[in-house]
Amino acid sequence: RVDVARLLSQLTEADGVDVYGWVRSLRRQKKVAFVAIGDGSTLESVQAVLKPEDAAQLSTGAAVRLTGSWQASKGSKQSHELQVTQVAILGANDAEHNPLQPKYQTPEYLRTIPHLRPRIPANALLLRLRSQVIASLTHFFNQQGFVQTHTPIITSSDCEGAGEVFTICSNAAKEPEQCEKPGGQAQVEHFFRTPKYLTVSAQLHLEALAQAVEKVWTLSPTFRAERSDTPRHLSEFYMLEAELCFTNDLSDVMAVVENMLVAVASDLLSSHTGAELLKAREASQAEHESTTDSLTAADLKARWTGLASGAWPRITYAHAITLLQTAAADSSATFAFEPSYETGLQAEHERWLAAHVGEGKGPVFVTDYPAVQKPFYMSPSSASESNGGKEYNTAACFDLLVPELCELAGGSLREHRGDELRKAMEAKGVEGSGLEWYQDLRKYGSVPHGGFGLGFDRLICYLSGVGNVRDVVAFPRWVGRCEC
Ligand code: 4AD
Ligand code: MG
Repeated sequence: RVDVARLLSQLTEADGVDVYGWVRSLRRQKKVAFVAIGDGSTLESVQAVLKPEDAAQLSTGAAVRLTGSWQASKGSKQSHELQVTQVAILGANDAEHNPLQPKYQTPEYLRTIPHLRPRIPANALLLRLRSQVIASLTHFFNQQGFVQTHTPIITSSDCEGAGEVFTICSNAAKEPEQCEKPGGQAQVEHFFRTPKYLTVSAQLHLEALAQAVEKVWTLSPTFRAERSDTPRHLSEFYMLEAELCFTNDLSDVMAVVENMLVAVASDLLSSHTGAELLKAREASQAEHESTTDSLTAADLKARWTGLASGAWPRITYAHAITLLQTAAADSSATFAFEPSYETGLQAEHERWLAAHVGEGKGPVFVTDYPAVQKPFYMSPSSASESNGGKEYNTAACFDLLVPELCELAGGSLREHRGDELRKAMEAKGVEGSGLEWYQDLRKYGSVPHGGFGLGFDRLICYLSGVGNVRDVVAFPRWVGRCEC
């Protein structure tokens, strides 16, 4: 028994070969039938040659075991093929009603059948990419001495303070409106006595764990009740987060992000999965005749090379605003929202920065955002910014921007001084919202530390060149959609 990927790389002839897989396509002729068999181990299929009567019960989608000999092929499209002596149908297929048809089907339609979608070879490839990237990350963090940890899904606070938490109702609360917002009064009987939420970030718990083993990371489910209906937002996604102690230099945190992505991209560049992603990109372009899909295989490879090269530009928020304003003033860019220091970066601004700073060859770090735009837990930058004659307090933080997807990761130094943290919490109105334990961390051996969070599904989008995060997650959930 051999998987399709291994069989295709085997160029010596062999008898008694068993191939398990699914029929990808079928061509019946008078004296012979050609069946393409795939098993998800590669984009490619094995060509199997059958007697027409043996192929009578087969259709695209059926699960089979084919036994035969692996022989040099007379055809020009493949070097070898399986001359089949025995066919076993392991899972019959209702060809007429199968929602997956062997023809082009739009991404929108395929999102309505997420339970079947992964069987499309290009989607199976995304599952393998995801798995490979996790392996690369695990290897990287192990090498760097980070401990992989698990943080809770059910929490008592809203880490980001953005009011985008999903509230967990007790059985008694049947109506969604009976669930409270953070800080609200319980009016229904709650399983945990007071309202609890699905986590919006592992960060606060990760900070607690970092103080035990110095460097920690986690890759965990994250939930946001954001109504953003965009190709970048999901209601349930995976966030990769890391936290490191004994640093008061934001560059140390950015270096972890950079080295981590350099490692992931380098692994990808030298892998079979990488080669297949480029092939899939070429096929996707050919299928759409480049109309809807403008990213070529060469562009995708350049993207990985840009990541793998590291040393990405780092600019401050104030500088970013100046660049945007200059571009708008000399008409080299047109924005729906005028860039201004106070209003913050819109997605269109982030997109422009990622495409123009450092010639758009890789990501760009934007640092030192105005503190008012950021959550309570960030340390102030060492120097404040002056803009238009006004002084602004800035946070020791960064966002990592990439073309098209905009924000891929964000991080900061954390306020580790108890008094300063209390003041920041008061200023942001989050004091007394179940974060006493977090403040407690500042009383007992609190050390300067920092960390970051990276949208893992966005990373998979960026690496695969797939334009919508809903198409790289097997069972995507977004506002109004959670069917299966
Ligand atoms: O920028 P965010 O909100 O940062 C935090 O939550 C920090 N507490 C993380 C930390 O420092 N440990 O989220 C981090 C990243 C974003 O940069 C983005 O890539 C991704 O998570 N993200 C989403 N991905 C998909 N769908 C959404 N709705 C997302 N919201 C954030
Ligand atoms: Mg952010």
